[in-house]
Amino acid sequence: MTPRQEEILLDIHDLAREQFVMILSDECEKVLKDVFQKYRPQRVLEIGTAIGYSSSIMALSSDCKIDTIEKDEERISTAKELWRRLGVDDKIKVYHGDSDEILSDVMAGKIYDFVFIDAAKSAYKRQLQSVLPYVKKGGMIMCDDVLYLGLVKGDSYPPHKHRTIVRNMREFLAYVDSSNKLELTLVEEGNGVAVIKVL
Ligand SMILES: C[S@@+](CC[C@H](N)C(=O)[O-])C[C@H]1O[C@@H](n2cnc3c(N)ncnc32)[C@H](O)[C@@H]1O
Repeated sequence: MTPRQEEILLDIHDLAREQFVMILSDECEKVLKDVFQKYRPQRVLEIGTAIGYSSSIMALSSDCKIDTIEKDEERISTAKELWRRLGVDDKIKVYHGDSDEILSDVMAGKIYDFVFIDAAKSAYKRQLQSVLPYVKKGGMIMCDDVLYLGLVKGDSYPPHKHRTIVRNMREFLAYVDSSNKLELTLVEEGNGVAVIKVL
């Protein structure tokens, strides 16, 4: 990464934090960079582009091609501008739409070696099951915020407004943990990052 690219990313990171645009946590960014350094994925899928921050990190960390899905058109415009400024626009293809509707078309005929699931928290399990047939053996799937405000660990009853997400996240983690086709590494810093290896 050049000093200019670092500067652009830092500006967009700070802007996102100031304007409460959801981008990956700093802990997740560190894990993402570590995974990319170690595995150098080449075919990448992301669900939840937002303003293109995490896809930029991935594009700058490996010689990869990225498919990314986002339902908000305005965020896609911001992301495209960021990718252009960073010089990574030829590595990233963005698909506009609801992932529930377009995911299977986006993945059709492709095999990915890395998937970043970072959209609706309650849909992690369903989305993991949808992407699994399109991830090669030895490939990785990563999900941010899986310990959701520290409410997921243990079996205490969460406050009402968080109950559905917490229940779904517990179900998701239990599903991954009990599968003999998946290997879960749970990074507990921040809001929790799940790094899942497909066996
Ligand atoms: C946490 S943000 C993604 C952050 C991004 N991965 C990053 O770290 O820079 C989640 C994004 O997913 C999008 N999203 C949520 N549900 C979606 C869906 N069903 N289909 C497509 N995009 C969705 C939201 O609009 C939002 O921009």
